[in-house]
Amino acid sequence: MIAPAARNLARAAVRRAGATASAQQLPAAGARSLSIFAGAARPSTGSISAQAQAFSAPQARGIKHIDFAGDGQVETVYERADWPIEKLHDYFKNDTLALLGYGSQGHGQGLNLRDQGLNVIVGVRKGGASWKEAQEDGWVEGKNLFDIDEAAQKGTYLMMLMSDAGASDAYPKLVKYMTKGKTVYWSHGFSPVFKDQTGIEAPKECDVILCAPKGSGRTVRTLFKEGRGINSSVAVYQDITGKALEKAVAMSVAVGSGYTYETTFEKEVYSDLYGERGCLMGGIQGMFKAQYDVLRANGHSPSEAFNETCEEALMSLYPLVGEHGMDYMYKACSTTARRGALDLAPVFEKALKPVFEDLYARVKDGSETRRTISFASQKNYRELFDKETDAIAAQEMWRVGHKVRALRPDRAGKDL
Ligand SMILES: NC(=O)c1ccc[n+]([C@@H]2O[C@H](COP(=O)([O-])OP(=O)(O)OC[C@H]3O[C@@H](n4cnc5c(N)ncnc54)[C@H](OP(=O)(O)O)[C@@H]3O)[C@@H](O)[C@H]2O)c1
Repeated sequence: MIAPAARNLARAAVRRAGATASAQQLPAAGARSLSIFAGAARPSTGSISAQAQAFSAPQARGIKHIDFAGDGQVETVYERADWPIEKLHDYFKNDTLALLGYGSQGHGQGLNLRDQGLNVIVGVRKGGASWKEAQEDGWVEGKNLFDIDEAAQKGTYLMMLMSDAGASDAYPKLVKYMTKGKTVYWSHGFSPVFKDQTGIEAPKECDVILCAPKGSGRTVRTLFKEGRGINSSVAVYQDITGKALEKAVAMSVAVGSGYTYETTFEKEVYSDLYGERGCLMGGIQGMFKAQYDVLRANGHSPSEAFNETCEEALMSLYPLVGEHGMDYMYKACSTTARRGALDLAPVFEKALKPVFEDLYARVKDGSETRRTISFASQKNYRELFDKETDAIAAQEMWRVGHKVRALRPDRAGKDL
């Protein structure tokens, strides 16, 4: 049940802030979030799986203890049902949430906090690219947009949303603002966990918490505007007040999460660095490219190679996996496709397992963080990154992709 007063408060906040989200786009503050078990919605495929029976009793409203794998490892999940907007307003009524850095996460988390009617300010380097981007998003100099130092001084929550390499550089200048009663907030365990490389030591008198959205800041924003909500993880690095976990959960809802699961800073950074280098980003480009190139080398046309590699995956099959799971997607395909996929999946698994094992070891021993810090500490790191991503855009496969996407009937000839 959505409290009408809460909705009105939020709408008023949107009007005050001149935000772009329409009132209809605001999330239903008291509404239950996404179903934890996507599988529960699947067409009947026999008995309910063990994982779907794996709730451990008793379940409190908004907090669930779930044995996801059915192996006895019970995890805690917090849903936003427990944090209607009036509770959020009350919880943060004496706080100034200072976003330090305004990249993808700053944009998504910052605009969501602003739309929720919370007292949020942005702190970035004056004159930098982010300063301009923040102004374009309606943050106003002297009102809610400040130089990074001034914002850190005003903030009671210091939200460390600069790049991970930038944090090492900025942190020594910000430590003096991390005084008793303030809370230091991260969206990645990178800086505190790899402190030997980053030089970032937790301030003695502050709670240090984490809320790491599992997606780009752009998705944090769009899901919030659609009334849904990203899934995030929360963790506590240092608990001075005894309230650190509660603060992390409250912040996760405030920045727009639908539900959030508990982890540690270490587990978050290892799994995150590993995942993005693997299936989420590095692996997917490598696999697409290898498959496309072999098709082309065997005389297949560019459109056929792209359709059989990327377009069908992204438009037809992966969404089915996302909605219902891999077995459902397999069952939705022909017997011919299913036979081959079932035979080849273990071949790929065997070939790739050593790559993943090596990758995890490189993440854990700090090699991947060293590489990131040394690369992103270069003054011209943005241009250097652009050069490499431009090179991907220039690959035949993705040039073909533009023309294939423009053929989608809903695009009327345009590649958006
Ligand atoms: N993007 C994601 O998908 C994602 C998802 C979950 C968590 N995270 C985490 O969220 C945090 C922020 O990531 P992001 O992707 O939003 O931002 P980002 O692109 O990594 O960083 C951009 C911001 O860092 C600032 N910055 C860079 N060097 C700085 C320095 N030396 N001093 C002060 N500011 C500096 C930039 O300001 P200027 O414009 O002035 O250079 C800009 O505001 C990171 O910890 C990241 O790991 C990101």
